[in-house]
Amino acid sequence: MRSSIPRREWEVTVAAKLIKGAEVAKEIREELRQQVAQMKEKYGVVPGLVTILVGENPASQSYVRAKQQTAHELGFYSVQEDRPADITEAELLALIDKYNKDPKIHGILVQLPLPKHIDETRVLYAIDPDKDVDAFHPVNVGKLMIGTADFLPCTPAGIQELLIRSGTKIEGAEVVVVGRSNIVGKPIANMLMQKGPGANATVTVVHTKTRDVAFHTRRADILIVAAGVPEYIKGDMVKEGAVVIDVGVNEVGRTPDGKRKLVGDVAFNEVVDKVAAITPVPGGVGPMTITMLMKNTVKAAMKAVGA
Ligand code: GUN
Repeated sequence: MRSSIPRREWEVTVAAKLIKGAEVAKEIREELRQQVAQMKEKYGVVPGLVTILVGENPASQSYVRAKQQTAHELGFYSVQEDRPADITEAELLALIDKYNKDPKIHGILVQLPLPKHIDETRVLYAIDPDKDVDAFHPVNVGKLMIGTADFLPCTPAGIQELLIRSGTKIEGAEVVVVGRSNIVGKPIANMLMQKGPGANATVTVVHTKTRDVAFHTRRADILIVAAGVPEYIKGDMVKEGAVVIDVGVNEVGRTPDGKRKLVGDVAFNEVVDKVAAITPVPGGVGPMTITMLMKNTVKAAMKAVGA
């Protein structure tokens, strides 16, 4: 269904109001499944992924479970390493080193956040950049910055893929990113300002110290919100005909039958009638993140076999 909002140049091909990440993710996983099968036949190798979880944070447990399940479904060799919250930094570094040296493993993921007594930067530095499927190692962050990335960080890669596959015109668009985290805000801003297809945008980043957030969000052709605040973006903060990507996943209680009630960082009901397209929560950006992790792992495995 085409959007009923009058279309402007930058949204000419946006075909549907809801950008359904869950469906796009399914398509990409099908492509990956075929690649994995070909790789196995041609090189006798399957992509290998280890996920390392420290402590018992329920959100982290749920994310890691989903990553493992997807890896399994795609036919990967996958290993789950659970460690108690009081693991020492040296023990964690030794575990990473073991997998750096394991030829069956092509991707190493350490779920964040880590307990306070562990230096996150030191841990991310310890992962072999060729196995850094999260793209958090400073070498990979630097390569992203200069436009020569091997791996794209998973959530930003998922966002860019959704923009491209929904037909949103990125080149020349005014993009406003709300949030400046290392995982989403900074890398997506960087990716969309690069020279090249799927980018070439004019990017503004707003954050907690920005004087007038709404001034910026109201002029965005593409608004990407990763603020971590439930329904932070209200109807009057969005321009008519904008494309909105909501990265937020906030639990705001339970439904009567005990299910988790999730909302994004955008007040969906206030915004949906104004915009050209928007990602739902859940079922928008979330499923793309895991899929891009799988894509990076396949890429790492291909590189390892010299394909
Ligand atoms: N914690 C929240 N998001 C992520 C992610 O994308 N990767 C890892 N490793 N930890 C996270």
